[in-house]
Amino acid sequence: MIYIDERKKAFFLEGENFTYAIDVSDGYLRHAYWGKKIERDDIDQLLFDHPAGYVVAIEASASGRGSLETLPQEISFFGLGDYRTSCFKATGEDGGKVFDLKYDSFELLTEKPSYSDLPMLKGGETLVVRLLDAAKRLELKLYYTVYEECGCLTRHAEITPLGGTVFLERALGFCVDLPDCGYDCITLYGKHSCEAQIDRQALGHGEFSVSSCMGISSHVHNPFMALAEKHATENAGDVYGFGLVYSGNFFLSAQTGEFGTIRVCGGINPLDFRYRLREKESFVTPEVLMTYSECGLGGMSRNFHRAIERYILKRGVPPIVANSWEATFFDFDTKKLFGFIDGLKGLNIDTFVLDDGWFGRRDSDRTSLGDWKVNTKKLIGGLEPVINKCKENGLKFGIWIEPEMISEESELYTLHPDWAVKSKFLKPRTSRNQLVLDLTRKEVLDYLKSTFYALLKNHDISYVKWDMNRPLTEFYSAGLEKENQGEFAHRYVKAVYELADYLTRSFPDIYFEGCAGGGGRFDIAMLKYFSSVWASDSCDAEERCRIQYGYSYLYPLKTVSSHVGASPAHQTSRSIPLESRCNVSAFGAFGYELRLDVLPQEEREFIADYNLFAKQLRSVLAEGELFRTENPFESKFTGFIVMNRQKTKGYGLFYQSKTSYGDGIKMIRLRGLDPKKKYSVPKFGVCAYGSTLMNMGIQHKTTNTDYQSVLYEINEAEND
Ligand code: GLA
Repeated sequence: MIYIDERKKAFFLEGENFTYAIDVSDGYLRHAYWGKKIERDDIDQLLFDHPAGYVVAIEASASGRGSLETLPQEISFFGLGDYRTSCFKATGEDGGKVFDLKYDSFELLTEKPSYSDLPMLKGGETLVVRLLDAAKRLELKLYYTVYEECGCLTRHAEITPLGGTVFLERALGFCVDLPDCGYDCITLYGKHSCEAQIDRQALGHGEFSVSSCMGISSHVHNPFMALAEKHATENAGDVYGFGLVYSGNFFLSAQTGEFGTIRVCGGINPLDFRYRLREKESFVTPEVLMTYSECGLGGMSRNFHRAIERYILKRGVPPIVANSWEATFFDFDTKKLFGFIDGLKGLNIDTFVLDDGWFGRRDSDRTSLGDWKVNTKKLIGGLEPVINKCKENGLKFGIWIEPEMISEESELYTLHPDWAVKSKFLKPRTSRNQLVLDLTRKEVLDYLKSTFYALLKNHDISYVKWDMNRPLTEFYSAGLEKENQGEFAHRYVKAVYELADYLTRSFPDIYFEGCAGGGGRFDIAMLKYFSSVWASDSCDAEERCRIQYGYSYLYPLKTVSSHVGASPAHQTSRSIPLESRCNVSAFGAFGYELRLDVLPQEEREFIADYNLFAKQLRSVLAEGELFRTENPFESKFTGFIVMNRQKTKGYGLFYQSKTSYGDGIKMIRLRGLDPKKKYSVPKFGVCAYGSTLMNMGIQHKTTNTDYQSVLYEINEAEND
């Protein structure tokens, strides 16, 4: 709900469990409160007047009443005496940089506006607060939408010059100045094959930030940040979470201010960002999804999951896939594929996905990106015989593409060397032997639209894995004027959105999976187009426990693609029992990445049964709530429980990495049950009340072998 007190110029955004309040102080928009729900009428008694400071503070207004340096704000502008991180900086035609943005008016929209080239959560009632430069040269609109039942809100901003051209040099679309309660800052960091690792550190003095300047959201930092009270745990304590709905160069920061505040702000990375805006031309910032939870990190994640699932995620039940990549890499032909596909019969797999290597002359990663024609030397008769082979075996067919890329060794590069992103003077930098196509150019985007439209139209394809295997460099387009080069990275991402929007809309029944060398572009924005994202190039279940646990802070597990790999694992040479590899993968968008056709018969039988079970689990994962029970970053155990929303059925995973002699017994305390209802957990031969299972827990006798796991079903039982 949005309540507006026009007399007091106060705005209250309320969810079921939170209040977010804004008011106007000396003409500026003040961040008044965000946290557990409070009484609206009390608020103005409690707001502190911002002191002018002593010697150095710049007075905010002619009345000399306060300083912007000490005012908790909703947005901040460079050059006005607030020396904390500025959200916006713009330079006018005269080179002047100061715009004094003050409250002007508000508007309540019944629907949140949507933008075709910038993904955002769908939303209803939206508050728009208009700020206007004192000299009327610039307007800034702040948009707020509440997701009451999710404990979330979204924000974005729209900036419009009113008196001539401006160059926008910073565009961080949101800011909140929270009272400093001694928070820890939590982020997700990583690298290729080791994504979404959790970092938690006390916020000290100064600014702590995570960012990307790689043109993609990146493996290195996910566009996510949380502030947690010192003592906040998985299940209790105040946590504020922020997830940017953006896939490009981003910036998120938390900064301790002079007067007991912490500023959290974020948006487009200002590095190399400079956007020319002509008079009346608007610029819309990426949105942020924000949540407050008093139920610890688990509460934060469930809020995020609900909002993402309901308001942005491209729907689609993840099929159980058998992907060819780690099964064959580039080394396949029709005969080998036929053997592989025949070998899937009877395993209860839904879809065979043909990964890299099917087009051009692509027998290695050196060549052919851009030449999206089937390699008929490898695949005699093209894709059709492979598709028919799938159908014969009761399978659907999926295909790997990497639309944004071009190999120097390709027909496309011979025809259009200028289509690659490069500088005028230097040899372009390759990564994985490939260059990036300049998607900011219309002719390139048109080529990609028509090429992939034709591929998907002309074949019976039900699944697409959209890869993107290198970060951007050069950040230059021959198609942009000199004055627009600072727009390149943002325009590139918007072009990716346009292409993804076009293809996913044209083929609504195709399941799209995203990928960027694993999780190099796993962010909320991508989930508008892709139902899941290949989370990591590491299929080692031990590594995957941490990777998937980390992603689950922000992303619903059903969006985390997770396949059973070979043992020993390609990436780490670690051997893990098949059951544990399956159990870890089943808590995600499930599938296989190994030669299933040549496995021993007893493993094939196990897999056939397991897939039937995984389909039941999948239906609970699709709409249920996630509870994390054991943290692999803090112990050798990983635990998840997913319960349906009626709290009648669920599944739990308990995984143990290395054992030590005498580990013996581990109590598994369940979560998410109704304390007053009885549940049976057949795997442990237990039937007890929710309260008992959640507090006393279940005794699990661990074995003396490494990498053991148990996946157990939880069912509501008849009450006595
Ligand atoms: C990336 C992906 C892999 C696979 C290869 C193919 O590394 O993450 O899953 O598709 O590309 O080249």
